Amino acid sequence: MSSEERIEHLRRLRQESRLGGGQQRIDQQHARGKLTARERLDLLLDDGSFVEFDAFVTHRSSDFGLDQERILGDGVVTGHGTIDGRLVFVFSQDFTVFGGSLSEAHAEKICKVMDLALRVGAPIIGLNDSGGARIQEGVVSLGGYADIFLRNTMASGVVPQISLIMGPCAGGAVYSPAITDIIVMVEGTSYMFVTGPEVVKTVTHEEVDREHLGGASIHTQVSGVAHLAAPDEAHALDLARRLLAHLPQNNLSDPPIVANSDPVDRRDAALDTLVPDDPGQPYDMRDVIERIVDRGSFLELQPNWAANLITGFARLDGRSVGVVAQQPAVLAGALDIDASDKGARFVRMCDAFNVPLLTLEDVPGFLPGVTQEHGGIIRHGAKLLYAYCEATVPKVTVITRKAYGGAYDVMSSKHVRGDVNLAWPTARIAVMGAEGAVNIIFRDELARADDRVAEAKRLAQQYEDTFANPYVAAGRGYIDDVIEPSQTRPRIIGAFRMLAGKRDSNPARKHGNIPL
Ligand code: HXC
Repeated sequence: MSSEERIEHLRRLRQESRLGGGQQRIDQQHARGKLTARERLDLLLDDGSFVEFDAFVTHRSSDFGLDQERILGDGVVTGHGTIDGRLVFVFSQDFTVFGGSLSEAHAEKICKVMDLALRVGAPIIGLNDSGGARIQEGVVSLGGYADIFLRNTMASGVVPQISLIMGPCAGGAVYSPAITDIIVMVEGTSYMFVTGPEVVKTVTHEEVDREHLGGASIHTQVSGVAHLAAPDEAHALDLARRLLAHLPQNNLSDPPIVANSDPVDRRDAALDTLVPDDPGQPYDMRDVIERIVDRGSFLELQPNWAANLITGFARLDGRSVGVVAQQPAVLAGALDIDASDKGARFVRMCDAFNVPLLTLEDVPGFLPGVTQEHGGIIRHGAKLLYAYCEATVPKVTVITRKAYGGAYDVMSSKHVRGDVNLAWPTARIAVMGAEGAVNIIFRDELARADDRVAEAKRLAQQYEDTFANPYVAAGRGYIDDVIEPSQTRPRIIGAFRMLAGKRDSNPARKHGNIPL
């Protein structure tokens, strides 16, 4: 072969590899409303930035006629590229090749980019669209999955890992995305479950289809497995880009700073009257967040699951912060099992990746009830407490209204290394609300009272006058300052600026024992 012929041969092979399972299967993929593995990478990465590895890899099996069918690339496109100019490693499963199923060679390709990502300290984005373990390869494929799980775990807290679910993700395969930091699903075309509808029917006699067992709405509203659902693949890929913009390259670097046009000294008079006078009346904490952070920068995670606690990324003067906030409009903002899990995982992600934490607090306590107690609210609430205690990133807290009971301690209080703790004049920092407190501490007085209702009201007022304010805590230094709500933005930006050089650490140990 002449050199020209050799180059021509290379081009033909590359073209063959690019076609994956062939035009017919590509058409089928499109007919399902799905993009191909390569089209997805084109949308995800900066134009022309993708550098592919292992385009010529094929599987090594010969059982069940597989030796007659070797497709270049073997069902996954891997390599690196850039997002907003930042290096990322990617793998994108190709459903047109054996249903994107995972062979030994397919797993090795994924492991190769994961190893490199860890070595150079760059994020990993996985685009999942796979029928699971390549059935014809048996245990070798299971081994391949385990190799990926191990790398997901080693990369956890070292480089950001984002999973996009863009088709089936079933069986043990779900555990790779589950170990990563953020999962984004596509509505209508993606699903995740450990055992599919057929097995469920055999074992539990429940009839359920894929969508209702593990579709995007289930995992973003019921199970809390996924963080976001997108109406289509293009939106999902855009979300991945936006999420990455809040995370650093790795645990040794800081998140990128973007240009900010929202004045840092912007005051918002509406905040001064936003909290209702009646402590039982709800308001929308999202409104508070939107008014405080850089305009339009709030990116909420898990908005439809455990909505009593809001979590998400935002920017303050162009710098990323992780926002954790009660939502008084849902369950009065009480902490329950799901909210504790949601908050704990988010706090730990922010801490692992040097994203400072802004906590906005209006919490009446942990949610009472047999279901909560029997469900282990003690164990779950402890996760959130643990997460805040161990977090060493800058922590700024603003108490807008209630800070009652154990939840006061948990929500980034001074006692668990909150760096700057502020309160609005509407704050009420106490062991519990007036009614509950009066019933306990004045039980005998109330029993003796001629008019029990009037006496309860009088005592409640006395309790309120004493405790329903921020000044008892401020008098002890548990609150650094009581601020006018309209000044919140400049005050917290100032606090985070002051904390920019913060250094703090935890005792050396193998790892802590968070109550999982
Ligand atoms: C080999 C597979 C495959 C697999 C799909 N294909 N899954 N080949 N191993 N796991 C092939 C199909 O044979 C078909 O090939 C092509 O991919 C497209 O699949 P279809 O069935 O035509 O597509 P669709 O109707 O959309 O159904 C998709 C599907 C279904 C729901 C994913 O294919 C399916 O149920 N596959 C099996 C899923 C499964 O049980 N996997 C193992 C799970 S256990 P042709 O040539 O006909 O086009 C597991 C363990 C992981 O994964 C363990 C980790 C510890």
